[in-house]
Amino acid sequence: MAFERKNILDGLRPHAKRIKATSMRKMFEENPNRFDDFSVSACSILLDYSKNQIDQRAMQALFEIAEICMVEKRRDAMWAGKAINTTENRAVMHMALRYNGKEKLLVNGQEIMPKIRHQLERVKEYSTKIRNAEITSSNGKKFTDIVNIGIGGSDLGPDMVTKALEPYAHSDLKLHYVSNVDGAHIYDCLKRLNPATTLFIIASKTFSTDETITNANTAKSWLIEALGKKAVAKHFAAISTNISACNEFGIDSDNIFGFWDWVGGRYSIWSAIGLPAAIAIGFDNFKDFLAGAAQMDEHFRTSPLQKNMPVILALIGIWNRNALNYKSQAILPYDQHLSRFPAYLQQLDMESNGKSVDLSGYPVNFETGAVIFGEPGTNGQHAFYQLLHQGSDIIPADFLAAINAHENLPEHHDKLLANYLAQSEALMLGKDLKQVISELAMSGKSQTEIKKLAPHKVFTGNRPSNSLLYKKLNPKTLGSLTALYEHKIFVQGVIWDINSFDQWGVELGKQLAKSILPIVRGGEMPDKVNSSTTGLIKYLLNNKE
Ligand code: F6P
Repeated sequence: MAFERKNILDGLRPHAKRIKATSMRKMFEENPNRFDDFSVSACSILLDYSKNQIDQRAMQALFEIAEICMVEKRRDAMWAGKAINTTENRAVMHMALRYNGKEKLLVNGQEIMPKIRHQLERVKEYSTKIRNAEITSSNGKKFTDIVNIGIGGSDLGPDMVTKALEPYAHSDLKLHYVSNVDGAHIYDCLKRLNPATTLFIIASKTFSTDETITNANTAKSWLIEALGKKAVAKHFAAISTNISACNEFGIDSDNIFGFWDWVGGRYSIWSAIGLPAAIAIGFDNFKDFLAGAAQMDEHFRTSPLQKNMPVILALIGIWNRNALNYKSQAILPYDQHLSRFPAYLQQLDMESNGKSVDLSGYPVNFETGAVIFGEPGTNGQHAFYQLLHQGSDIIPADFLAAINAHENLPEHHDKLLANYLAQSEALMLGKDLKQVISELAMSGKSQTEIKKLAPHKVFTGNRPSNSLLYKKLNPKTLGSLTALYEHKIFVQGVIWDINSFDQWGVELGKQLAKSILPIVRGGEMPDKVNSSTTGLIKYLLNNKE
């Protein structure tokens, strides 16, 4: 119940009060072992969480919260295939999609691994044949371009993985991702493509998402215009839980890949939704990606809370959100290959934990999911880091970096790593007025100039961050990293007692768009529409060319 959770979370307040009276800079000075005390490794990933405003007592209180909220019991219920997505009465079993052990995994009393392995085998066969040109276009040509049409989890997952694992990509196949209903997206993509060598993959769990179906229809017309109706069977594949809708669209049964309602859209990259990524990087690499996630699953399932990386990451998030009341969380990969990772995590986290009623339907009276945003470093440094360092809000950040680059350009990578290290250091240390004044004096500034400039050059510091380091961004590590955040989000949902696996909040906008569409097309304006929307529609219609 919400009020019980509030009491539990309020137990963090005295710890927050104690911590606010000191600073991280001081805590580092006082404890030379702070890094050892507050870091953990798993699956070849190091998580250093020592640059957070925490001490041993605060961490102890957080681990107790995880126990009181029965994180382990709820984790086991998820694994046991219980319908923990209560509002949709569904199990949550995306971990099964990457499971490579011998246990029987059940949903509604039925074993699910045989179905999963069958679909995976089909993904292997299809992706390999596309790569080797054993499956060709309607006129026997090798496919050169693959366009994935999907949105949300049916776009962000495969797009993120394709970009992240670019060093493993097949050189002569180009992957494109079209998601937006804005015609510019598909138009700009198709204008450079040759229909005779283009394969479309329609990815949609429901196969009813308006954006995806609109884009798929446009792609179909484009193809038919060039190659005729018969070509559709060869040039389209689909991934969905709604097989009959795929059939109706005209997709050949051999090219339809299924998955199941116990896989949430934003958790679906491990299913056949990963097909475009498997085509890009090859099935063996895709399997390694699954294996990396399975390794993190095992760590999450078997490690004690105090050594459990997803649990610790989640608890640090709870601390920042509920004890220190920070509203957002930056994801800052110092790894260009992870350029879509912040956007991917944005959906994963915000669609999962952006909730304000608890599992029993009562409003929660504490903070839940934070605002997630981010960009790769060093780009972000020249854009929004100003606010991270000197803004009035404190924004906890996760810094991620690969120790070794794929490219043999040490000049670049050393600089990248230096920046990765410098930023968390700067956020934590800050620079006080005394130091600023002395630096300005050393640079020869006059007293008047110093007085004027100094306050602007102060960094309050004491701003929290996590640092994650991994050897190289290979498929396995990417799998582990992605699963790490999935489990982090799960643990936070358990502590907040919310349903992390539904997404009713996206429905109202969809409903209203449907009713507004006829008016945008020139239909009659209903009386009840408010003056703002009426005014906007009139302005829009009057200015339509
Ligand atoms: O509207 C939100 C959402 O349902 C996401 O959860 C999902 O990833 C996305 O739309 C796409 O859904 P689908 O795969 O069914 O087209």
